[in-house]
Amino acid sequence: MARVGGGRGLFLAAGLLVFLQMSSSAFEVKDQSGKVCIIANLSASFSVEYHTKSGQQLTAHFTLAQNAEVLANKSSCGKENVSAPILAIGFGAGHLLQMSFTKTSKLYSVDELTFIYNLSDTTVFPNSTGGERNVSQKTNIQADLDTRYRCFSTNQINMSIVTITLSNVTLQAYLMNHTLSGNETVCAADKTPTTPVATTPTSQTPTTSQAPTSPPQNPMTGKYNVTGTNGTCVLAHMGLQLNVTYLKKDGKTGLDVLNFVPVNTSFSGSCDHSSAFLSLTFGRTRLVFEFLLNASTDKFFLQGVNVTTTLPSEAKETKIDVFNHSMSELRAKLGNSYKCNAEEKLWVTDHVFVNLFDVQVQVFKIDENKFGAVEECQLDENNMVIPIIVGAALAGLVLIVLIAYLIGRKRSHAGYQTI
Ligand SMILES: *[C@@H]1O[C@H](CO)[C@@H](O)[C@H](O)[C@H]1NC(C)=O
Ligand SMILES: *[C@@H]1O[C@H](CO)[C@@H](O)[C@H](O)[C@H]1NC(C)=O
Ligand SMILES: *[C@@H]1O[C@H](CO)[C@@H](O)[C@H](O)[C@H]1NC(C)=O
Ligand SMILES: *[C@@H]1O[C@H](CO)[C@@H](O)[C@H](O)[C@H]1NC(C)=O
Ligand SMILES: *[C@@H]1O[C@H](CO)[C@@H](O)[C@H](O)[C@H]1NC(C)=O
Ligand SMILES: *[C@@H]1O[C@H](CO)[C@@H](O)[C@H](O)[C@H]1NC(C)=O
Ligand SMILES: *[C@@H]1O[C@H](CO)[C@@H](O)[C@H](O)[C@H]1NC(C)=O
Ligand SMILES: *[C@@H]1O[C@H](CO)[C@@H](O)[C@H](O)[C@H]1NC(C)=O
Ligand SMILES: *[C@@H]1O[C@H](CO)[C@@H](O)[C@H](O)[C@H]1NC(C)=O
Ligand SMILES: *[C@@H]1O[C@H](CO)[C@@H](O)[C@H](O)[C@H]1NC(C)=O
Ligand SMILES: *[C@@H]1O[C@H](CO)[C@@H](O)[C@H](O)[C@H]1NC(C)=O
Ligand SMILES: *[C@@H]1O[C@H](CO)[C@@H](O)[C@H](O)[C@H]1NC(C)=O
Repeated sequence: MARVGGGRGLFLAAGLLVFLQMSSSAFEVKDQSGKVCIIANLSASFSVEYHTKSGQQLTAHFTLAQNAEVLANKSSCGKENVSAPILAIGFGAGHLLQMSFTKTSKLYSVDELTFIYNLSDTTVFPNSTGGERNVSQKTNIQADLDTRYRCFSTNQINMSIVTITLSNVTLQAYLMNHTLSGNETVCAADKTPTTPVATTPTSQTPTTSQAPTSPPQNPMTGKYNVTGTNGTCVLAHMGLQLNVTYLKKDGKTGLDVLNFVPVNTSFSGSCDHSSAFLSLTFGRTRLVFEFLLNASTDKFFLQGVNVTTTLPSEAKETKIDVFNHSMSELRAKLGNSYKCNAEEKLWVTDHVFVNLFDVQVQVFKIDENKFGAVEECQLDENNMVIPIIVGAALAGLVLIVLIAYLIGRKRSHAGYQTI
């Protein structure tokens, strides 16, 4: 759920860099009696500057590896007023990512994020001088007590020569009930950009310069497909944004604008000869598109969308499960593809919109797994009309000036002759 600023190209490149090899896993810390006090599920990637034996400076990039596990003897549930709860995750050859927690009467937070790394691990740090290093930093990760913290957005934590990028984070400390709470605190970066965000060292760019959180960013374009009995039957490239307005517990109106992050979006679907489904899941949000074939016109079209999502805990009704099955959008002839660069807003209910960006879709008949001839949407064609009018007007103007010049030349010629 990236809702952070920056140029789109840069954003895409950064997103790819950051997400390439990440995987989420779940970690649990228990006390002696077996009671679970911390649960965390997160992806982390690291970039570490180090020196080689020859004095060269290199940067190592790696992620929380498959073998990552909670180190029971370095983790702890803590003792109130005595020691802090600690989640210690070990991975690779002696690398350790550690979070220590603190709480107030209403909130808990990750007080300090510590990373201890083993420079002798030559698989990660080739030609390194060796030794162990230790960096730590305060974080902005905090949540209401008895709620789980959720942040799909990347959260980049800079510690001079080490940068840790967290994403897809779900965690809760000070657990009451062995399990994650049903209520969640959504991090600022995942929320709509319209709510003022005080401080978020969250950034999408893996550089040291931190991009400030800025206006709504268009979603990245994802590539989705469905394979049926006769091969690919849905091919869709599009950016997806869900826009939900909802009533808060305090009676005010909330807004949740969610951009689907393609690398974190799983998709599936099915087709028969006259209907096709494309289901997209991003975190706790699911969209199901239903396409139909209009046999009399030989066109495919989007007939319906189902939307299932969970809103922030401040919402009066946190579960959203709505649909609209009387659409007739994204229409094109069988064998052709529908394309639209302009943003298209699909009305689902008065409070729920699915916004599409840079769409290209083809359903049912797809040759060689590639898009067929393009049918441009009306909006794009309208956008084309203005440049055409301007161009025509300019051409007309040039013509008028030319004629005026020629007439003027002729007259002055005639004038000379009479003298
Ligand atoms: C992020 O988390 C969601 C839900 O837990 C999961 O479906 C998705 O695969 C995760 N993405 C990555 C890159 O781990
Ligand atoms: C952790 O995330 C992965 C996917 O990223 C998911 O499969 C798994 O169920 C999650 N675990 C918990 C406890 O939420
Ligand atoms: C801590 O646990 C790890 C593996 O879980 C083990 O290899 C190590 O010896 C333990 N250290 C201590 C001090 O118990
Ligand atoms: C911890 O300290 C707070 C205030 O300083 C006190 O109210 C609370 O009872 C203490 N808890 C324990 C278990 O000592
Ligand atoms: C650091 O890595 C080296 C090489 O892989 C290994 O021999 C050593 O045990 C590691 N140190 C720790 C503390 O795990
Ligand atoms: C490590 O050192 C060897 C020889 O000194 C060199 O050939 C190799 O390119 C170095 N590797 C890196 C990643 O610098
Ligand atoms: C604890 O979990 C059970 C089900 O697992 C649930 O019925 C109960 O309401 C939960 N209690 C609290 C305080 O969350
Ligand atoms: C969510 O929080 C509200 C109060 O803020 C509480 O009434 C409700 O039981 C909580 N729901 C769950 C599932 O924990
Ligand atoms: C979301 O929907 C609301 C209400 O329909 C609208 O005012 C707002 O402009 C929309 N925002 C986006 C980013 O589409
Ligand atoms: C697959 O192709 C065959 C032969 O062209 C056709 O009869 C059948 O209806 C097709 N199946 C689907 C699901 O389109
Ligand atoms: C969409 O929602 C409607 C109403 O809840 C339901 O009948 C239908 O099966 C759903 N379709 C899909 C594909 O989930
Ligand atoms: C369909 O999606 C899968 C998984 O992302 C991808 O490997 C495959 O190339 C896609 N097929 C087409 C025709 O785009």
